Amino acid sequence: MTNIIATSPESIARAAELLRSGHLVAFPTETVYGLGANALDGQAAARIFEAKGRPSFNPLIVHVPDMQAAATLVDMNETARAVADRFWPGPLTMILPRRADCPASELCSAGLPTLAVRVPADKTAQALLRQAGVPVAAPSANRSGTLSPTTPAHVADSLGTAVAMILAAGPCTVGLESTVLDLSGDTPLVLRPGAVSASDIAAALEEEVAYHDETTDTPKSPGQLLRHYAPRTALRLNAIDLKPGEALLAFGSDKFMGIRGGGSAKDMPDTARRNLSEGGDLHEAAANLFRMLHDLDRPAHKAIAVMAVPDTGLGRAINDRLRRAAASTKNQAQG
Ligand code: TXA
Ligand code: MG
Repeated sequence: MTNIIATSPESIARAAELLRSGHLVAFPTETVYGLGANALDGQAAARIFEAKGRPSFNPLIVHVPDMQAAATLVDMNETARAVADRFWPGPLTMILPRRADCPASELCSAGLPTLAVRVPADKTAQALLRQAGVPVAAPSANRSGTLSPTTPAHVADSLGTAVAMILAAGPCTVGLESTVLDLSGDTPLVLRPGAVSASDIAAALEEEVAYHDETTDTPKSPGQLLRHYAPRTALRLNAIDLKPGEALLAFGSDKFMGIRGGGSAKDMPDTARRNLSEGGDLHEAAANLFRMLHDLDRPAHKAIAVMAVPDTGLGRAINDRLRRAAASTKNQAQG
């Protein structure tokens, strides 16, 4: 049985309902087919990484129908508005600071203070986003490490039944992923080239726009290897007990976590204790990961002791991020 469904008012309505209720839907955009999930729902966003088999949590582009919807997620400064006026809807993504009240899951930002937003022009994508009424996180709809899909058949070959529905229109007109423009720094920077060129953007802004040079600059786009979320507090992985002064990031039951020298995790203050998933659910853990690391990243804590997370399925991506976070802290916790 195929889950490829031709675009019609009925199928768009069903796809919108599936998205709202936390399911994955592949849908066309003018660049490539996207693997969509409700960006407000961390567990739905976690399913994207699982379906793609991504070994790590790269941040996701959040798709909205118009600039007004984007402005509820990110701080649209004057430059961003000028770019939006000229290039949206279209094959261009902007990276901007998250609003303080941004409702999108932290998993969409992979813990970074920024969020990528895009308004696609494709008619089906537009209709779907309007009906869904929620921002939709969507990377390209392919297994990690394979080519981006430009037809519904590509999506089906790559993802099979991992998606609830593949909303099918014809082949993508642009066929190349969107230009990624970072407007979160001092000067506009193109992190990923696409159909909209740096000189197109420079002309619209009457300002210079540079391409990010991977050979000389520090990597910025986590997909292109990585500026990633790095807590200031040291992380101690695979902890089976706590040292005095450590905060606890638990997975599963922490009932038997003791504190060396006396005491028990369950008596610790609320501010020093988080549980990725008491029931041991990896979707829930993935959805909670960055928020809980942020919560525990305080000078009051000597380190964050992290209980082991199984290295299967989404657990691989969770462990990848934990290892990177642990390696990037200056004073790695020992033992
Ligand atoms: O054309 C496209 O952009 C397609 C369609 C579906 O919209 N989507 C797409 O998504 O190509 P994805 O996940 O395959 O690529 C997103 C790129 C990655 O290189 C990612 O690292 C970067 O954008 N990115 C996303 N959020 C970012 C952020 N907050 N900071 C830096 N880079 C970010
Ligand atoms: Mg991709």
